[in-house]
This record gives sequence, C-alpha cells and structure tokens, in this order.
Amino acid sequence: MAVNLKGRSFLTLMDFTPEEIRYMLDLAHDLKAKKRAGIKGELLRGKNIVLLFEKTSTRTRCAFEVGAMDEGAGVTFLDSKSSQMGKKESLEDTAKVLGRFYDGIEYRGYDQKVVEDLAKYAGVPVWNGLTDVDHPTQILADLLTIEEHVAKPLNRVKVVFVGDIRNNMAYAWMYGCAKMGMSFVAYGPAELADQVDADVVARARAVAEETGASIEISSDIESIKGADVLYTDIWASMGEEDQIPDRVRMLTPFRVTKEMLEATGNDDVIFLHCLPSFHDFETTMAQTQKELGYDIREVTDDVFKSKHSKVFDEAENRMHTIKAVMVATIA
Ligand code: CP
Ligand code: NVA
Repeated sequence: MAVNLKGRSFLTLMDFTPEEIRYMLDLAHDLKAKKRAGIKGELLRGKNIVLLFEKTSTRTRCAFEVGAMDEGAGVTFLDSKSSQMGKKESLEDTAKVLGRFYDGIEYRGYDQKVVEDLAKYAGVPVWNGLTDVDHPTQILADLLTIEEHVAKPLNRVKVVFVGDIRNNMAYAWMYGCAKMGMSFVAYGPAELADQVDADVVARARAVAEETGASIEISSDIESIKGADVLYTDIWASMGEEDQIPDRVRMLTPFRVTKEMLEATGNDDVIFLHCLPSFHDFETTMAQTQKELGYDIREVTDDVFKSKHSKVFDEAENRMHTIKAVMVATIA
C-alpha cells in the first residue's frame, strides 16, 4: 500500500511503521540529491511553520529553517522568552492559536507530554525537535548517514551507543534500531544501566521481536565487537549540567578513544555523534569544567577528526531529513 503521511505528527519513531520510516529516508535521499543538483524547490510554497524552542539549538533550528525556506515555506522562530506559552497562556490555548496560523509546529523542550499535547490540540502536524526522552529527527539523519557510509542494509547494521545510556539519544536509538530491524547495544556503566527506563526498553524489545532487531544493554567491552557504528553523546544533557561531576566519574572509562574504535574489531567502523560535542577544550563549558577538575570530553579529538568520523555529513543530513519530514507531513 502507498505510504501517505499527510497530516501526521512526528513525535517519536515508535508512531511509524518501518515502511513509513523507509519512505521518509527515501524522500530525504531524493531531496538531498535535488538540492545537490541545484534544483530549486516549491514543495512547501504557501505554507508557514513555527519553531518553538525551550532549549537551545544550532542544527535543529537551522535544519527546520533552511529546509522550509528551500521549499518555499515561511518560518517563525519563538524561544521561551518571546512567547506567552506556559506563562500567560496555557499549552492548549497556544496550540489552538498556532494551529490557526501555521501548517506545522516544531517543538523542542523538556517533557514529551508537551509535544504530545501540542499535537493533540493544534489540529496541524507537530514535529518533535528533542525532548528529555526522545530525539526522533536526529535518528532519521543518522540512518541516512549510515546508508551513505556503511555498505550494508540497515537490518544488518550494528549500532553501539556509548556513554550516557539513559538519555534521549540512547532511547531514540533503541526505537530507531527496533523499527529498522537493527542490532543495538547501549554500552555504559552498570550504575547507569540501572537507571535506564525499563518501559522504553520493553517497548523497543516488543517491536524488535517483530522486526528481527536486538536491543542490548551492556557494560562489557566485548559487546562492542563487530560494531558498524560507534555513537556517543555529551555526558550531561541540556538541563542536567549539575550532574557533571558524577557523570565524569562514571563515564570517563567510556570516553570514545582510538583504542575503543579498535576494540570493535572493524576497520571500517564509523563514528557518529548528534553534536554538539566536547572533543577538546575549545568551548567555555569544557574549559570551565576543566578548571574545576572535570574533563568532560566524551570523545577524543583524534577520533572526532579521524577518517572514521562522519559527524559533519551527519549534521548536514539533519537538514535533508527534517525537510523530508515536513514535505511528507504538510506538503
Ligand atoms: N543534534 C542536535 O540536535 O543539535 P542542536 O542541539 O544544535 O539542535
Ligand atoms: N542528549 C543531548 C542531545 C543534544 C542534541 C541533550 O539533550 O542535550
């Protein structure tokens, strides 16, 4: 049956079938080729979108803005300081108002329930630009990047997520791998494994049973053997900065190094990271923490800049995949 995603919200990959995810990836491949060929788009001509950001962003905001503008849509950006949402106007009322103005709404913030409620009340598609427990547009970009750099179908690819295995990226990966029949290992300290949301794992494993995927959590270095993709993220996500001392203590052995890449036993392993990344001390955050005695680098600079690293292709793919989500749901 033909895939039709018109009018659908994009809140989590768990809401989509593998065929629907395949459709969005194929569309992203096509839109990327079209942009590379210099073909100007009109697919979103006459549409308007609004971007709501309660957390900061570089890639996601720019991907929505450029993706929309490339295809002719108008864009409004609102951060939490410049709208009434939640302070002087309820979420429900805000969603109803924005739904009258706009054809699609992007939301980045804390609670997944906010993005769900926006979708419930807006009457137009709502796109999840990251919450505390999910980051589905990032996974689409990561899957596109894997298809470009790993010479295997997705259902034969092994992804190892290293580090803070209880964060939004780890959970988003569990869902993505489950849906696409992939092999997934969350490799991190036992202390953090105990904090992984059991419901997230159970839901991912239930899907995995249908698709042939595997979802594992391990503290054993042996579990990274045969990885096609080594993936990491910052150790303290937005809003968790007070946890840095504890995370550095737990996660320093899980910093992605050349030795860790070698331990995969795969010379062709690729390194991916959603970014932003601490791979040196060229940021105020890494420098300030270093002065306090904390080395917050989740990956070494030599890995980040190695031939294995595809992080900037991955960052570019945020734009092509987010454009595909918008085209699929509102064009
Ligand atoms: N990967 C990602 O979501 O980046 P931003 O926080 O810059 O949007
Ligand atoms: N886990 C990170 C992802 C950033 C894209 C965070 O939430 O800050």
